[in-house]
Amino acid sequence: MNHFFDVDDIGSLELALARAQSIKAHPRKGYKDGIGKSIGLLFFNPSLRTRLSSQRAAQNLGMDAVVLDVGSESWKLEFSDGTIMNGASAEHIKEAAAVMGAYFDFLAIRAFATLEDRDQDYAEPVLTAFMKYAGVPIINMESSTGHPLQAFADLITIDEFKQNERPKVVLSWAPHPKALPHAVANSFAQWMNSASVDLVITHPEGYDLDPKFVGSARVETNQSLAFEGADFIYAKNWSSYQHYGQVLHQDASWIINQKKMALTNQAYFMHCLPVRRNVIVSDEVIDSQKSIVVEQAANRIISMQTVLSMLLEQKSSE
Ligand code: CP
Repeated sequence: MNHFFDVDDIGSLELALARAQSIKAHPRKGYKDGIGKSIGLLFFNPSLRTRLSSQRAAQNLGMDAVVLDVGSESWKLEFSDGTIMNGASAEHIKEAAAVMGAYFDFLAIRAFATLEDRDQDYAEPVLTAFMKYAGVPIINMESSTGHPLQAFADLITIDEFKQNERPKVVLSWAPHPKALPHAVANSFAQWMNSASVDLVITHPEGYDLDPKFVGSARVETNQSLAFEGADFIYAKNWSSYQHYGQVLHQDASWIINQKKMALTNQAYFMHCLPVRRNVIVSDEVIDSQKSIVVEQAANRIISMQTVLSMLLEQKSSE
């Protein structure tokens, strides 16, 4: 693995899950593997889980982790080539990435979509620039189009809780007052398509995801039909992909409530967090015995630690 950008970088999901299980059973077993190694965690956007779980994962491996809020604590970066930099940007990504690559063995980056220009967002200007100029492995901590550490944690959680070999997993759009990126939904669909599950994606008209991520999943615009017999319900809001970045409507009837959960096969409720209670999901569902949102968040340490352990292993063999 040169970089961890999406599901294609992890290799066999079966082997990755086995490694994750082993790390979960013995979180400090690899403590010596990372001693003397360092990671820079760079945040262009806010975070609770990713920021803390990534540091915990690095600590479990004996690594030094340094966090920088690039969006607020550092110089404004320029990403365009050939620009006359007489505006707001004080430093070009070419120097900034190379300097940070000189300071750390690995860099992990969070840079959300702008939701203004689809082509530009889907070209992943920030992550690709770091991959080009940093000279060290780059880890995606949520980019414009994907959140693979979240999707990997989601897969680990489903693997732990599943009651049958091939569970029915439903990714359901849910209402939200603000325009949100597609990264979590894209990655969840992409990873589930590569896993041993039956994936159904349900959303109102106009909220189709990029077909590249939908893959072979069944798409169902009737939420109740989609929920029938489901083993896992994964709620998430996303803005429109076709009418890029727009909130087409905030249909409150798409909230995940107990009446809808009753249509399922006693499904577990999942969400990546943070979640708006009684907008995305009712209190009764998220507070129920079937809610596994905290277990999902806890597995963010395991997904990051698994990826770091693979990258350390590769580095030691070079
Ligand atoms: N799920 C997730 O990535 O949470 P944060 O935005 O708090 O990191």
